[in-house]
Amino acid sequence: MPVGAYYYPEHWKPEQWERDIRRMAELGFSFTHYAEFAWAALEPEEGKYNFGWLDTCVNFAARYGLKVIMCTPSPCPPAWLSQKHPDILIVRDDGIKVHHGMRLNANGANPVYQQYLEKIILKMAERYGNHPAVWGWQLDNEPHLEGLYDYSAFAQADFRQWLRRRYSSIDSLNKSWGAAFWSLTYNNFDQIRIPNARESFTNPHALLDFQRYTADALAAALRFQAQLLRRMVSSRQWITTNYAYYKFLPCVDMFRNRPDLDFASHTMYLLSTYLNTHSGPLAYRLGSGMELSFSSELARSVNGFTGIMELQPGQINWGKWNAQPLPGAVRMWIWHSFGLGDKFTCTYRFRQPLFGGEQFHKGIMEPDGVTVSPGGLEYVQAIREINALPAPVNPTLPSRIAGRHTAFLWNQENLLGMEGSRHTNSWDSWQHYYTYYSALKRMGSPVTFLQETDSFDVKQYPFLVAPAYEMLDNRLVEKWRRYVQQGGTLILSSRTGMKNKQGHLWETLLQQPIWSLIGAKVDYYDHLPPGTKGTIRMGGTDYSWNVWADKLTPDAQTEVMATHADQFYKGSAVVVRRKLGKGQVYYIGAHSDGGELETSVLRQAFTEAGATILNLPDYVFQEWRDGYEVVVNYTSEPYTVNLTEGSRVLIGSRVVPPGGVCVFTAP
Ligand code: GAL
Repeated sequence: MPVGAYYYPEHWKPEQWERDIRRMAELGFSFTHYAEFAWAALEPEEGKYNFGWLDTCVNFAARYGLKVIMCTPSPCPPAWLSQKHPDILIVRDDGIKVHHGMRLNANGANPVYQQYLEKIILKMAERYGNHPAVWGWQLDNEPHLEGLYDYSAFAQADFRQWLRRRYSSIDSLNKSWGAAFWSLTYNNFDQIRIPNARESFTNPHALLDFQRYTADALAAALRFQAQLLRRMVSSRQWITTNYAYYKFLPCVDMFRNRPDLDFASHTMYLLSTYLNTHSGPLAYRLGSGMELSFSSELARSVNGFTGIMELQPGQINWGKWNAQPLPGAVRMWIWHSFGLGDKFTCTYRFRQPLFGGEQFHKGIMEPDGVTVSPGGLEYVQAIREINALPAPVNPTLPSRIAGRHTAFLWNQENLLGMEGSRHTNSWDSWQHYYTYYSALKRMGSPVTFLQETDSFDVKQYPFLVAPAYEMLDNRLVEKWRRYVQQGGTLILSSRTGMKNKQGHLWETLLQQPIWSLIGAKVDYYDHLPPGTKGTIRMGGTDYSWNVWADKLTPDAQTEVMATHADQFYKGSAVVVRRKLGKGQVYYIGAHSDGGELETSVLRQAFTEAGATILNLPDYVFQEWRDGYEVVVNYTSEPYTVNLTEGSRVLIGSRVVPPGGVCVFTAP
């Protein structure tokens, strides 16, 4: 797995370039990353180009055997462009234009902006599109809009166009938006303004469409750049972008660019303080392995492989606090990335910046530019270890692992819809997804995220989970039914099937479109106030819940797995399962505290379907890659790996300390 580092020649004295690039190569890095924010350095005045510095640094990379990821500079329009065309800049919902002085402040879907982008991108493609040192291209940087949404005159008009295409007539828009409610009816498309995403009483259907539009516009902006490059660059060079952690950026949908990019890469800052971590005392130094894993498997699912474009080398500057990583944690993250099958890992960044908005961000090098930082030393160690791995004995995926491969049905629009309409303050769609995802990882399941249009192939995916799949149509219900009849195990949860694809409730009883599939009626659901707990009993064990629980009435042939142990609906069903054809459907009608109920049901479902599962503690991960098993420990306690006879430890030891790694081969 090649490991690389970002380098910004435009930040450093020209006489240091060769020294730095040579050093990068000597430390074991095999690629670097240039130019994503460098428009002003490449085209300091309109039409006047200055590529000399970049040519020099590409050639230095080639001289020292480093490949280059070349980036389009679209996140940073130069001052002359913003001054000439302020209409390309993003406008916030309060009407404030985001002027020059930061990044990501122009809308890449704006055709005026695109005229200028086209010129600089074609110049770059002409110059580097056949350069043997250039490995591939990164479009933009963590594509999203500064402030998440654009309310500029361009975006207003573009949104209206998008609506015209989607609805053809204003009557059909009024219907879809439920505009009869509160007199929200429009007489024509020209009256429509972008709904205010911050107001809590905004029409949810208008908001969902605006978010869909924003996701489409972001995807279109990337497509525009990808198509320009494809015309010019060698087919040896790939094209990707570095998707940022989706949780903060609801409209960034990697799947929308599936046909445009060769693959989706992703970025991950494990100590950012905004992500989920283990609850142990060292968690804030070890970071969120679960989110690294989720992000990587999601990105991998888009085109079959991925790489990490940005991984922190030490402290960052933008967390709520910026703790030191536990010694060893940086190395563990690299090994985790390796275990997940990443095709490369790249660190942000080689040198710590001396100026600008990220002054306190660590690099591989200390601020003096010549001393390797503690995180840098861990990079060096991990690179050496990876390069020294002996060839694996058997690089084919063992059936015990293939047999627990799980598909996770993903539709960004369900997330957008539920987050726009949570229904109880304690509902957190991400937390609901993570509950299922963590349970799967604790069993050691590889997870592939699927879209509804993908094939639900039972052989490839013996298990399919679709947690809180709120908006659906009958076509999907029938596709699920066929999957189960052919032998699949399908696991659904609360909220699934509540709404149609427009986001309206069905004109039926609650979730009725899935009743015949799950073999039960969903009579109603309940939420509890903060601090109040309900109890669910399954197989003699009690599980508490607070956020959400359903009350079900099972059909005669349906098996009740768990019932309510209290509340006025005590004794009624909450988790059910039923056989259908050669498979099984599970419906878990609750979001339990700590996901414990869901974890138990999943374990039972997998075991009974004949899968071999692991029993890892939460936040210990075990991944298989090319014949190696990789165990990483994000908990605050040592973990002892369960080694079968004939296993051989290659890296680390069987007892894995917090922040530690064990790599082994199993017979
Ligand atoms: C990322 C971003 C980088 C840099 C980094 C700092 O989100 O893509 O450009 O800002 O954070 O940690």
